[in-house]
Amino acid sequence: MSTSGISKIGVLGIGTMGSGIAQVSAQSGFETIVADVSDEVLEKGMARIHKSLDKLVASYEKTEGKRGITKEHRDEAAGRLKSSAKMDDLLDRDIIIEAVFEDYDVKAKLIKELDGKGFDGLFASNTSSISITRLANNYHDPARFMGMHFMNPVPIQKGVEIIRGLLTGDEMYSTIVALCGDMGKTPIPAEDKAGFGINRMFIPFVNEAARVVEEGIMSVEDADKTTLCLGHRMGPISTMDFVGLDIIVDVCNVLEAEFGSPYKATALLKRLVEAGYLGMKTGKGFYIYEKGKDPVVNPAVARYRIK
Ligand SMILES: NC(=O)c1ccc[n+]([C@@H]2O[C@H](COP(=O)([O-])OP(=O)(O)OC[C@H]3O[C@@H](n4cnc5c(N)ncnc54)[C@H](O)[C@@H]3O)[C@@H](O)[C@H]2O)c1
Repeated sequence: MSTSGISKIGVLGIGTMGSGIAQVSAQSGFETIVADVSDEVLEKGMARIHKSLDKLVASYEKTEGKRGITKEHRDEAAGRLKSSAKMDDLLDRDIIIEAVFEDYDVKAKLIKELDGKGFDGLFASNTSSISITRLANNYHDPARFMGMHFMNPVPIQKGVEIIRGLLTGDEMYSTIVALCGDMGKTPIPAEDKAGFGINRMFIPFVNEAARVVEEGIMSVEDADKTTLCLGHRMGPISTMDFVGLDIIVDVCNVLEAEFGSPYKATALLKRLVEAGYLGMKTGKGFYIYEKGKDPVVNPAVARYRIK
């Protein structure tokens, strides 16, 4: 039995974050169902999860058990994980963790839909920036709604920012703290203001890095090199490609709406998203990613720079 009292978890969205959350949930012993819009999207997401589990087994074998998981653990986790394109399959879950697009309307519609179908469990949102209080308003019991902001990549990063909405109840809060523990994660409490704590700091930093490139102050590669000198493991430009440029712009929009124009997404970031260059997930962003090759700067970005 888990310390949180939860046994069945539903994850909504099998993208970058949803796939990681579903994987960790299954690895941690929860009966897990992950849902998304179509069987095709789910197939790709499940393949990503299985690849990630295999990597953990390889790591276990390479480090003689210091890191990673055993083959048996992988097979057990895979056995606990199911996917479905039907929202109805989430209705019996103790908790649903949503990780769909960072768009209030998309999230609100789904919460209302599940609510309307009679879902009565706990609800958590992996939103990076949207008000938890506002999202909770779409659920019949806002006291059992809360933010659970996992970090990318979920199977590796330990921190989970946990955000109480104005109406989140004490019982929900302590259950989510316990659930983080059950999932091997460290809860980091933050208040319900746009971007919470982490993205209030991180997004202006990377957005400014895009501006440094856009204004021709530094090349893409040099902007990345500079923060390695600060001890970061990845430069800000590569980090944006890793997170997804659409996500960065969406979060900038939320911060701008609450705090004003200094948080506005740079034009370069917006143009890249408009062009469909979303970063590593589409193979193109600030850099171009091809299998077996080192990333190279996207010529479209180099051209866009003010000389
Ligand atoms: N990418 C990151 O580094 C990161 C980190 C922390 C939090 N987040 C947050 O996690 C959430 C998801 O981000 P992501 O990067 O995984 O996005 P993503 O684009 O990789 O995945 C989103 C998934 O949601 C699915 N989806 C969209 N509408 C849906 C619907 N109506 N029903 C079911 N599924 C639907 C999409 O098909 C897609 O698979 C966002 O709120 C984002 O802000 C992202």
